[in-house]
Amino acid sequence: MLSEKLQAIHKEAVAAFNAAKDSKDLYELKVKYLGKQGPLAGLMREMAGLSKEEKPLFGKLVNEVKQGLEDHYSQREAALAQAELNQKIATEALDLSLPGPVRARGARHPIQKVINEVVEILSRIGYSVRTGPMIEKDWYNFEALNIPADHPARDMQDTFYIDESHVLRTHTSPIQIRTMESEKPPLRILAPGSVFRCDSDVSHSPNFHQIEGLLIDRKVSMADLKGTIAYFVKEYFGPEIKIRFRPSFFPFTEPSAEVDCSCPICKGKGCRMCKHSGWIEIGGSGLVNPKVLAHCKLNPDEWQGFAFGFGMERMAIIKYGIEDIRLFAENDLRFLRQFEA
Ligand code: DAH
Repeated sequence: MLSEKLQAIHKEAVAAFNAAKDSKDLYELKVKYLGKQGPLAGLMREMAGLSKEEKPLFGKLVNEVKQGLEDHYSQREAALAQAELNQKIATEALDLSLPGPVRARGARHPIQKVINEVVEILSRIGYSVRTGPMIEKDWYNFEALNIPADHPARDMQDTFYIDESHVLRTHTSPIQIRTMESEKPPLRILAPGSVFRCDSDVSHSPNFHQIEGLLIDRKVSMADLKGTIAYFVKEYFGPEIKIRFRPSFFPFTEPSAEVDCSCPICKGKGCRMCKHSGWIEIGGSGLVNPKVLAHCKLNPDEWQGFAFGFGMERMAIIKYGIEDIRLFAENDLRFLRQFEA
């Protein structure tokens, strides 16, 4: 009998749906029982042999069974999907107590650290930072600074020339000129930056860093220069450091002096760092040459100033006891990591 077959199919399909272990399995069973090749579709075809009266009754019965199975399928599918989700939540749960991935952190380069510290110390007494181009006009790098055409610094062996009137700046002093040209005194500026010279050995690098200082005001004297540098050096190296000024010559300052500080390593007793002299030179300084003021259209009878230029590698070498200047540019992580905060 067809209706017995129908009962059997229904029972078998319900049992199979109940036994399905996941939604994929369940879907395959749906295709198997309710699909076009399935037993219900087969029964529909068998209905051809029924009488006119029986056909609609049996058709209705098949449709009821089919609808019942579809509803059962939907329920099972929802239940399995929920179970699968629960399972996923349970197994993929995040353990918030696990340590995160370790990311390598960058750190400031020791030269940048020195620059930042110098700027910080001098900003406390009113200095602020200015910058200038690394490719500089002859006028700013030499001429306006009163460096005459026959000065050795102008030699091709010391200076990288770009063309006849442009050089890679050999010092940060041109920023003095640029500032005096574009700003009105009084001025207190610092100009840190990269500088270039045709030179390379343990204590010379073709690319190194300087910080330039410039003060322009009324009635400025060597005493102001000395006081400022003494303040700076003690803040930077510590209160026990002594300074001394040695008479020197720079075309852009008059008078000029080289600045030495007592060796912070041996405290002046003499060691390798200070070549057993007890003193280490940190840079040049002086009162701004009236010719330089005049080049910048400042009246030397009204305005005076002092300037200084310190070597940043020099300062880092003294502060951290580094003996080879080339280490700063080699990017060796074993070296650089020693300066991480
Ligand atoms: N520009 C000089 C150099 O590179 C350093 C210097 C000396 C700068 C004396 C100054 C200064 O401002 O007054 O060797």
